[in-house]
Amino acid sequence: MAKKKDSTLIVDRANRILPEHIGIIMDGNGRWAKKRLLPRPAGHREGAQTFRKIARYCNNIGIKVLTVYAFSTENWKRPASEVDALMKLFKEYLQEALRDFREENIRTRFVGDRSPFSAELQELMRETEELSADKTGMTLNIAMNYGGRAELCTAIKQIAAEIKDGKITSESIDEKMISDYLYTAGQPDPDLIIRPSGEYRTSNFLLWQSAYSEYVFMDEILWPDFTTENLEEAIDIYCMRNRRFGGV
Ligand code: FPP
Repeated sequence: MAKKKDSTLIVDRANRILPEHIGIIMDGNGRWAKKRLLPRPAGHREGAQTFRKIARYCNNIGIKVLTVYAFSTENWKRPASEVDALMKLFKEYLQEALRDFREENIRTRFVGDRSPFSAELQELMRETEELSADKTGMTLNIAMNYGGRAELCTAIKQIAAEIKDGKITSESIDEKMISDYLYTAGQPDPDLIIRPSGEYRTSNFLLWQSAYSEYVFMDEILWPDFTTENLEEAIDIYCMRNRRFGGV
């Protein structure tokens, strides 16, 4: 049974110790569309439906934090038409979230540098966070314009500025302090990171936070086809792992 380092244990009806924090690299949208002779944005649209379904399910089974990789700092390199389609999809999702998801007990946060997004999208992000801030259920981190290396650079710049201002000393830097300067400050590290579609990479996702995460790569499935059964399968695999956190 997968052990947790700290004492926060979520045990489900099947007596499994659930991961407290799940990360998902929602990969394979483009290939899903290509297989159906559809344009790539059609895969992202379907992937957005899968995301909604999986986020609700995670909240229902008691997951505390879900982080999804929606747009990386590197994704700007994609053709403008695909980037535009993704921005349109984010806008639609956030408008829908503001309109329809008021009853959903999910706190939404955005992780990443939001400054390159349009003013309209940034405002929707702000409103979505504000509207859901008091929710008591799962925290949903949507990683947008996120990169683990960029996140660490931002944290290091902030720490350096505070040292310069005399607020902290370089001797006081420790792992806890660095974690506190990341977008995920105050949240548990991901226990389980799932990547469908047959790619075996971390792709700059939660670099610092994933030091002891258990990875489950699911080759046989592309993200738009990902089901709650696939999620359960990944959780079962996680539950069978022997987590040692460097010990024996
Ligand atoms: C990776 O698949 C996927 C992305 C870069 C975009 C993920 C975005 C969504 C699922 C949209 C939903 C998000 C929200 C917040 C509404 P890929 O395009 O790299 O697939 P490929 O490897 O098959 O080409």
